[in-house]
Amino acid sequence: MELPWKKSRPAMIAAAAEDRRFSFFLCCLTTFTTVAFSFVSPQIIRYTIDSVIGSSPLQAPAFVLQLVDSLGGTAFLKQNIWICAVLTLGAALLSGLSNVVRRYTSIELGETIAWRLRNSLYGHIQKLPYDWHVSCHTGDIIQRCTSDVDTIRNFIQNHLSELMRTFCVFVLALIMMFSMDVFMSLVALILIPFILLFSVIFFKGVEKQFAKADAAEGVMQSCAQENYTGVRVVRAFGREAYEMDRFSERTRTYADIWSHIGKLLGVFWGAGDMMSGFQLAIIVSAGIYRSVKGDLTPGTFLAFYTYCNWMIWPVRQLGRILSEFSKTLVSAGRVRDVLQNESETDPPDALNPGIKGEISFNNVTFAYGKGEPVLKNISFTVKPGKTLAILGSTGSGKSTLVHLISRLYDVPDGSGSITIDGIDIRRISRSSLRRNIGLCLQEPFLFSKTIRENIASIKPEMDIGEIKSAAAVAHVDDTIEEFAEGYETVIGERGVTLSGGQKQRVAIARMLASNPPVMIFDDSLSAVDTETDAKIRSALRKRVKEAAVIIISHRISSLMQADEILVLKDGTVEEIGSHQELLARQGSYRRIFDIQSGNREDF
Ligand SMILES: Nc1ncnc2c1ncn2[C@@H]1O[C@H](COP(=O)(O)OP(=O)(O)OP(=O)(O)O)[C@@H](O)[C@H]1O
Ligand SMILES: [Mg+2]
Repeated sequence: MELPWKKSRPAMIAAAAEDRRFSFFLCCLTTFTTVAFSFVSPQIIRYTIDSVIGSSPLQAPAFVLQLVDSLGGTAFLKQNIWICAVLTLGAALLSGLSNVVRRYTSIELGETIAWRLRNSLYGHIQKLPYDWHVSCHTGDIIQRCTSDVDTIRNFIQNHLSELMRTFCVFVLALIMMFSMDVFMSLVALILIPFILLFSVIFFKGVEKQFAKADAAEGVMQSCAQENYTGVRVVRAFGREAYEMDRFSERTRTYADIWSHIGKLLGVFWGAGDMMSGFQLAIIVSAGIYRSVKGDLTPGTFLAFYTYCNWMIWPVRQLGRILSEFSKTLVSAGRVRDVLQNESETDPPDALNPGIKGEISFNNVTFAYGKGEPVLKNISFTVKPGKTLAILGSTGSGKSTLVHLISRLYDVPDGSGSITIDGIDIRRISRSSLRRNIGLCLQEPFLFSKTIRENIASIKPEMDIGEIKSAAAVAHVDDTIEEFAEGYETVIGERGVTLSGGQKQRVAIARMLASNPPVMIFDDSLSAVDTETDAKIRSALRKRVKEAAVIIISHRISSLMQADEILVLKDGTVEEIGSHQELLARQGSYRRIFDIQSGNREDF
């Protein structure tokens, strides 16, 4: 679902519950009825004390007088006092039932909104450009999809209906109180503005502390996450004590902030209790004074006291609800920040051609953002069935070059072009292009699933024969068979840990299984021993007869059989040619070859 992030934050949240308008209406209605029915009991008690037990004339709206008459008048009620008890019970029951519906609808609304927000966020993040993912902190994105959405959900489920309840209680209490006694109502309101102001100012102030606590929690979490991820480095360098101190420092900061918040909250609720007590004391004093004078009946006095008591609590809560509201706006803003990033979209006239795989770079120059060019005037062609190898020092731009082929980044207009079968790749839809280009990354990522599911992840319907044949080419089939559960072995956090070389080979098998017309191996065999590397390449040559293959490696032995070898230096093509041609040229390639084959010792 596309959320209208261009609108205001509340409008964006409301749009997530657009089809739940009836639930919202029901929630508002039942909030009102919950309060309204609960307000009936003090009135019944009032009439009972004053007119049924006492002898004051019944002062009530016309429909109540009619109802009492139809029941047989106050004389009848005097003899059947249980009717008053049943009426009180009935009002409490109706209020309770309304409250059940109110809670149910608000929870359903909150869950629906949270569900839609999470799905929209997740769906949008899937479509965001690769460079957005590279520039973002994983922890931060996860926090936006979880805690921030939870803050919004919590507000809808708990505070929004509480806010409506507060409003209903306040308005109904005022109506009831003013209808009973104007002077007492004014007395009951004396301290309300101060209690409200105190609550709002306090929660505004404490908001900063909550923000500090959130930030401290983030710091604490990333410290723990980094430590667990880098556990090997920590152990290898004996940094446990240092890491413990670092973590303990952060937990101390976090605990200190919460202790401070706890103290502030203690002062707030304590001071609030005192103010409320003072307010009630004023009401009681004024009530006694007027009762003694005979201006107030005991039943009205009791009803007054009850309403006044009920009115103070929501007023004290209001500050907290407003502070939750501003926290919710901040969270909604963080969600909106993600949604307003432009996703990768293909123009409607994007092509979906059948791809044979002839790749050409034509004078391509590329820079990350506004930085210096990482690739300069690169030109070469790889035909289907041919292999191009790329050799170059660290940081020379090899991975950048292959990322451009998958359109993880686009070559800007005017900086050359990359074509596949003669078509500029910027005109081809990204999904169609990426389906046809197998990219085996330098640091392969495997999902926490079974080996079979990992290899078949691009084509889940693939049969086990195809999976095994791909694994055999990647020379990982024997290793897999050795596991007790074979291809059903779960890898990653929930299962076995694969070595770096095993991971690389499973990743190669995954790519081979999908059999794309273009295959790119970005230093994909760096963690495999030279002998296995040679066996894999030989099996690859037999299997991959029609694909255009690009191999990046630092090992000359992995590259020398390629049809063409491109030597990249600081983003430019230094040399290009076959192994023999480059050896004869006596340039960089020759020098590296000599070093790696042990003919030179000057490295
Ligand atoms: N996302 C990025 N944003 C900015 N600069 C980048 C980004 N990725 C790579 N670079 C820079 O581009 C240059 C080339 O990086 P690249 O990863 O292409 O090198 P490489 O030849 O693959 O190196 P290696 O052999 O170590 O894998 C480096 O200077 C690197 O710092
Ligand atoms: Mg690289």
